[in-house]
Amino acid sequence: MDDWLTVILAGGRGKRMQSSLPKVMHKICGKEIIRHVVDNVSDLHTGSIIVVVSPDYLSQINEIIDKDCIFVTQNNPLGTAHALLQVKDNLTSDRKHLLVIYGDNAVDDRNLINAVMKRHLDTDSDITLLAKILDNPKGYGRIIKNDSGDIVEVIEQRNLSVNQETIKEVNGGIYCFRIDWLKNNLEKVYQSEITKEFYLTDLVSIAYEQGRRIASYLDSSAIEIMGINNKLELSIAEKVVQKRILDNLMIEGVTIKDPNTTYIDSDVKVGKDSIVLPNTHIYGKSVFGERSTIGPNSIIRDTKVGDDCKIINSHIENSELKNDVSIGPFSHIRPDCVIHSNVYIGNYVETKNSDIGENTKIGHFGYIGDSKIGMNVNIGAGTITCNYDGKDKHTTTINDGSFIGSDTMLIAPVNIGQNVVTGAGSVITSDIPDNSKAIGVPARIINIKGKQI
Ligand code: UD1
Ligand code: CA
Repeated sequence: MDDWLTVILAGGRGKRMQSSLPKVMHKICGKEIIRHVVDNVSDLHTGSIIVVVSPDYLSQINEIIDKDCIFVTQNNPLGTAHALLQVKDNLTSDRKHLLVIYGDNAVDDRNLINAVMKRHLDTDSDITLLAKILDNPKGYGRIIKNDSGDIVEVIEQRNLSVNQETIKEVNGGIYCFRIDWLKNNLEKVYQSEITKEFYLTDLVSIAYEQGRRIASYLDSSAIEIMGINNKLELSIAEKVVQKRILDNLMIEGVTIKDPNTTYIDSDVKVGKDSIVLPNTHIYGKSVFGERSTIGPNSIIRDTKVGDDCKIINSHIENSELKNDVSIGPFSHIRPDCVIHSNVYIGNYVETKNSDIGENTKIGHFGYIGDSKIGMNVNIGAGTITCNYDGKDKHTTTINDGSFIGSDTMLIAPVNIGQNVVTGAGSVITSDIPDNSKAIGVPARIINIKGKQI
């Protein structure tokens, strides 16, 4: 692959998206269209990746790309050939072949891109392009062949004659070029009088007229979409990519009970022998270990979950669950919680920004916010950390081995020592020392022998 260089064209306005967000920034399975394309090509190691973008969107796009790319701007989007012209100076002669892919080709996977490149090398061509037969080819450039089956030109939808409209073989938007030929011919593309655009596809007829070798790779998959131009196509792409993600996870050893009601983002990782039950959504950069059960009816976002965890009918965001943690049904783990091993959180519990130590139990309805809870703590039903005084948020600390009675109100900031017991319905307004009891409203502290202190 040392001979290759890659260009992704993403400089267009994407007007058909009818959106204030640039087209390639729309997400498919939680990942921006452009990031799908960049990840696919970077996995193929096809040399440096150059991305052509509009200067208006440069910083936005740059911010989300986490792979090494060179950004080149196209000040005025005058068509795909004009976009490629912007990288002319980057087409150095130490590279032989150029892979060009459109920035909206998020549904094409790396195997397909690889197949086009292989065809290019095997046929020793000057241009190789991806072709596809579509039942509904409307909107795509059509591949025109002569009687001997040679590719003669690609004609865009608006320039088709009535007869040509029935041609079903379309241009898929992935090309390989021999760089020395491309450098000598890119500027020969004429500007369309009607649209004022320079079409990259015109290079095909230029090559044909010169008697150069033009090849195509016919994609025979059932996917009826190439490039995403509007939100209808975005939703079709979402389905295709979602199926691919779920299929891959199942092949890797994850059980997915009902793929039709399971939504898992592109960047999510799930370990083997984990089970995903119906109506479960796993978003963002969530990572699951092995043998965990997720769902049914759960939403997990940007959360790291260990091995052997159980999450039932619950929502979890931006948090971390270590191993053997059990959550739900019907609990809400809000951002910035670290839930250590063997913790049990039952039903109707809300937690936020809290560290919950090993073997601790919060079995029934309650609110635990801005808290640091030790190991082997038992939090009774209806306990609330009253963290907000109307102006500021305060911390509640509960140390190892304490037993918080049902319906305890912990008025933060407050520190509960080790092995403390609080009485049912108590309101704790001050710190409680180790090994003591607190009962009443407001709570009185009694030491271990029952004396009030
Ligand atoms: C293009 C092809 C068409 C093909 C289809 C496959 C051309 C002229 N037509 O049509 O033959 O069937 O893709 O999906 O190439 N772009 C720029 N700068 C520009 C214009 C576009 O960088 O000035 C980028 C866009 O951001 C986009 C890509 O090029 O990522 C393709 O442009 P788009 O307008 O989507 O082309 P299509 O009309 O889909
Ligand atoms: Ca397109």
